[in-house]
Amino acid sequence: MSRTQYYTAATLDGFIADPDNSLEWLFTRKRDERGPMNYRDFIAEVGALAMGSTTYEWILDHESSKWPYEQPCWVFTHRRLTVVPNTQIELVSGAVAPVHEELVRAAEGKNVWIVGGGDLAGQFADAGLLDEVLVTIAPVTLGAGAPLLPRRIELNLDEVGRNGDFVCARFGVVRETQ
Ligand SMILES: NC(=O)c1ccc[n+]([C@@H]2O[C@H](COP(=O)([O-])OP(=O)(O)OC[C@H]3O[C@@H](n4cnc5c(N)ncnc54)[C@H](OP(=O)(O)O)[C@@H]3O)[C@@H](O)[C@H]2O)c1
Repeated sequence: MSRTQYYTAATLDGFIADPDNSLEWLFTRKRDERGPMNYRDFIAEVGALAMGSTTYEWILDHESSKWPYEQPCWVFTHRRLTVVPNTQIELVSGAVAPVHEELVRAAEGKNVWIVGGGDLAGQFADAGLLDEVLVTIAPVTLGAGAPLLPRRIELNLDEVGRNGDFVCARFGVVRETQ
């Protein structure tokens, strides 16, 4: 069954980027590309993605050679950002629920990946549309930065493992009706 997943790396103190939107703290750490919660296995099950504009612009700045995703992608922004040519990228704004319907339809039974940031993942959780949080935690604290998930959300710890320098955890979102 299709799940809506927030899959990200974070620091031990709950940031997904430093105050300058740098991920240097992440890419300097060791990771086994075939180990627990690895990206290759994760992305193989993803049929559509959503992200906020800071994340989108970070990707454009850092992956200049090629847009990295084959799946259709919805970018949340209030601005008229440039869309990468020959990609399935749609700019959207406002409530996440109608966009989620499009994401699920486009995913055709595969999972929906909320790439980030944390508040966008929180907007999906607020709407009761987030199923899982998958986080790989780097052994570093930053003290400040972009927050992992700035909400009160109850979670179940469903899986835990180690991948290189990272603690890997998969959490199920507890719905109010559960
Ligand atoms: N560690 C990791 O694996 C990981 C993963 C993902 C991202 N990141 C990084 O973490 C940082 C996240 O940045 P961020 O916290 O600023 O979050 P973000 O979600 O990437 O961007 C936030 C922006 O998205 C737009 N937005 C969000 N919700 C919207 C809505 N409902 N309607 C319209 N626009 C909406 C707004 O910008 P506008 O001004 O355009 O309207 C908002 O300021 C980035 O540096 C990113 O590269 C790290």
